[in-house]
Amino acid sequence: MLHGKTIGFLGAGSMAEALMRGLIQGGVVRPQQMIVTNRSNRERLETLQMRYGVRTAASKATLVAEADVLVVLCKPKDVADLLAEIRPYTSRGQVLLSVAAGVSTSLLADGVAPGVRVVRAMPNTSCQVGESATAICLGEGAGEEARLVARAILGAVGRVVEVPEAQLDAVTGLSGSGPAYIYLMIEAMVEAGRGVGLSEQVARELAVQTLLGAARTLVETGEDPAELRQKVTSPGGTTMAGLQVLNEAGFREAMVRAVARATQRSQELGRMVAAPRLATS
Ligand SMILES: NC(=O)c1ccc[n+]([C@@H]2O[C@H](COP(=O)([O-])OP(=O)(O)OC[C@H]3O[C@@H](n4cnc5c(N)ncnc54)[C@H](OP(=O)(O)O)[C@@H]3O)[C@@H](O)[C@H]2O)c1
Repeated sequence: MLHGKTIGFLGAGSMAEALMRGLIQGGVVRPQQMIVTNRSNRERLETLQMRYGVRTAASKATLVAEADVLVVLCKPKDVADLLAEIRPYTSRGQVLLSVAAGVSTSLLADGVAPGVRVVRAMPNTSCQVGESATAICLGEGAGEEARLVARAILGAVGRVVEVPEAQLDAVTGLSGSGPAYIYLMIEAMVEAGRGVGLSEQVARELAVQTLLGAARTLVETGEDPAELRQKVTSPGGTTMAGLQVLNEAGFREAMVRAVARATQRSQELGRMVAAPRLATS
């Protein structure tokens, strides 16, 4: 899908590096197909060039003029400035893929030339290890090629699903913030392991491997988690006793409320990102 295409990275932080690494390791593109720029940190660009063999841009104008695909990799608060800088050099037919949380496809499309095909994405931090849970949504009129380009790029760092834009806040609440929920659960399991006499190291190794094994079982069998849970819960057994405590403590309700609250917070933050544009329009 990306054969012969030039990908311009607008931002050179940890997300940019994760994508570069995934694209190269997966053999999806050659290093020379990627050009990277940032706001001002030259040293960082040199590091990425040395580490991955990607090109660095002399200016944003040359990068944007040459690239078939532009990837917006700056913080949401910097997107408006970035778009103002690149707009004159963007052109019809380019694909603009943004990972900036809360920045809508319409705001992105308004900031570049008419006919630029916009895709918005919400990856999560597990992109650092090639296991992101990413959702994408297409801007108006983006079309099939833009969808495939976005899937090819983000597929290099994990799994990709497509949702309507209105659901991206929910995605943020579930999988965007999700790694932290899981880390908290592992923290609690390690603490619990220590409480019943295991060393911290052993408790951690067992808890993490338990999570990995359960996740792989879900992926590889495709079975419903409730069915898997029931299969491993014998009446009167240890698992049932443990689950009973989790149920009494409101584990399920707490998770439902956490995802709902994070979704709501994403909506609030999204309104803050959109506010400067509303104020000037
Ligand atoms: N990291 C993740 O796992 C993750 C997960 C989901 C979503 N995201 C999203 O991905 C985006 C990037 O995150 P990150 O963690 O990679 O951020 P980061 O490490 O802070 O990097 C941000 C980059 O943007 C550059 N930048 C800022 N303003 C710019 C401008 N006007 N023109 C060109 N470049 C500009 C910065 O350049 P200087 O260093 O020169 O200032 C820096 O290279 C964010 O929107 C974040 O919400 C990240």
